[in-house]
Amino acid sequence: MACCHKLLAVTVLFAALFQATEVEGGVRFSTLERNLVVNAQIQSQNVSSGVAKVGVDSLAVQWNLNSSLEIEVDSEYASVKVKLCFAPKSQIDRGWRKTDDDLQRDNTCPKEIATKLYRSEGNFVVWRIPKNVPGGEYFVRAYVLDTQAVELAYGQNTDDAKTTNLITIIPITGRLPSIDIAGIVLSLFSVVSLCSFLLAETLLGRKPAMS
Ligand SMILES: *[C@@H]1O[C@H](CO)[C@@H](O)[C@H](O)[C@H]1NC(C)=O
Ligand SMILES: *[C@@H]1O[C@H](CO)[C@@H](O)[C@H](O)[C@H]1NC(C)=O
Repeated sequence: MACCHKLLAVTVLFAALFQATEVEGGVRFSTLERNLVVNAQIQSQNVSSGVAKVGVDSLAVQWNLNSSLEIEVDSEYASVKVKLCFAPKSQIDRGWRKTDDDLQRDNTCPKEIATKLYRSEGNFVVWRIPKNVPGGEYFVRAYVLDTQAVELAYGQNTDDAKTTNLITIIPITGRLPSIDIAGIVLSLFSVVSLCSFLLAETLLGRKPAMS
């Protein structure tokens, strides 16, 4: 058994070395087994709101192997990449967030939360939601990767239709005032430029001709 594993590893290594750098498409999501159990909870200063504010609140994400699976199932598991993903509600009319079964073309999960070494007993991460995350409805998905960073399995904190346990993230507030300030600064700048230009014109105009 051990010899076969080594042989397989060497074969995979050679395949990877001789492969053209551009791979035709990626792993298909529909081929992945849902072997991880993923939980995600909002850690908010405002417990009563049930929503997460960017820049302030955090997501506590925990994952582990489904304990009812065979013991050998995770023998190739090397790391876990945890991602923040758009729920269908937040993908409507936004082609750039579209789901594609080909994981190289999939735009469901643009934001990486963390990548950690795989541990069969599970692991967790607490992630402060960055200010550049747009407001919307999200879920958390974790991909299991092998040593070549190829997806082998996944888990997510929602059902297959991505409708349960969704996380509402509300965007940063006070964006309008900052745009207003930028606008005022810009207007002031144009007025000052215009004044300087007029002043220069006037001064030059008054100068006597040189020759
Ligand atoms: C907490 O959330 C509730 C419900 O959304 C809201 O009414 C309240 O103003 C919030 N409190 C703070 C301190 O943000
Ligand atoms: C664990 O796996 C079993 C068998 O595939 C499945 O029935 C069960 O729903 C899974 N549990 C979770 C929490 O995903």
